[in-house]
Amino acid sequence: MESGQMLNGGRERGRHGRSGFWWVFAGGLFVGVIGFLGFHFLLMDGYTNSLEMCISCHEMDGVYKEYQKSVHYKNPSGVRVTCAGCHIPHGKGVVDYTDKVLDKVIVGGRHLYHHLIGTYPDAASFEKSRHRLAQQVWDTMRKRDSRECRQCHTYEAMQFADQQRSAANKHERMMQEGTKTCIDCHTGIAHEVPEEPASGEGKAP
Ligand code: HEC
Ligand code: HEC
Ligand code: HEC
Ligand code: HEC
Repeated sequence: MESGQMLNGGRERGRHGRSGFWWVFAGGLFVGVIGFLGFHFLLMDGYTNSLEMCISCHEMDGVYKEYQKSVHYKNPSGVRVTCAGCHIPHGKGVVDYTDKVLDKVIVGGRHLYHHLIGTYPDAASFEKSRHRLAQQVWDTMRKRDSRECRQCHTYEAMQFADQQRSAANKHERMMQEGTKTCIDCHTGIAHEVPEEPASGEGKAP
């Protein structure tokens, strides 16, 4: 009787031990999956990629008003390109995914930092820095060979015959030679190109 109980108890413990492992495993998997989904949809997409999020800080800057007048905001085809479309890496491969994570953390973190410490207390101070910030954007786009533009526009998909002669000539040549990238010829497509301020103004803080 007693030994039977003991045996039973022993077996119970064994069973608990094993199911305990499965509980931990299932729990870990659950946390992992939720964590990844949270990371993917909250950090990588959703709110942090939305127009609303960007303009929560940039609404008062000229950049938003100018963008609203641009063809990337409204056009006959009804396709809206949001801020993230041009400013955040969004390709499908592992390299783009990594670039996107780094961009969100490092560039996004820098925006948040300057926002919190109040580097630009008013619209005028931001305005003075626009040329320097634009320069940063051009550098990044050149370094990436205008990869964000190319997610939507490709030479292969262009109907050269329907483009202005000067545009078609340039595009056909660049398709062969590749010596210039989109942003070399297409600055100021969503915002006005900011004027270079008088020397000394708009320096990096
Ligand atoms: C928390 C406020 C805040 C949010 C949200 C924010 N920004 Fe910024 N952004 C800033 C500040 C402040 C700067 C100036 C940074 C500096 O001086 O280096 C800046 C600079 C920029 C620049 C200039 C180039 C650069 O990287 O410095 C671009 C482009 C830009 N933001 C785009 C975006 C986009 C796109 C989003 C949405 C995905 C966004 N910002 C969201 C505050 C913000
Ligand atoms: C998410 C897709 C998307 C991205 C990213 C994008 N574009 Fe566009 N672009 C469009 C659409 C859509 C139009 C408007 C087509 C139409 O006329 O209906 C357009 C129009 C244009 C035009 C024509 C301008 C005009 O006034 O008619 C130029 C030039 C252009 N894009 C360059 C660029 C460059 C350079 C980049 C990168 C910095 C870029 N685009 C990024 C989708 C995109
Ligand atoms: C060597 C300069 C040059 C390069 C590089 C270049 N373009 Fe252009 N593109 C032009 C010129 C010039 C025009 C006509 C004037 C304009 O719309 O700015 C034009 C026009 C366009 C248009 C409007 C076409 C139309 O007729 O509606 C689009 C869209 C465009 N370019 C996208 C791009 C994209 C995307 C890239 C990179 C893959 C690119 N371009 C690279 C010079 C260039
Ligand atoms: C079609 C691509 C495109 C879209 C959409 C776009 N930008 Fe830009 N942005 C650029 C380019 C290119 C520059 C570099 C300066 C230039 O050529 O106008 C730039 C520059 C900037 C700068 C640097 C300061 C300046 O005046 O140049 C800020 C800040 C910025 N963008 C924020 C935004 C925000 C916020 C949105 C959405 C409301 C947005 N951008 C949408 C292409 C884009």
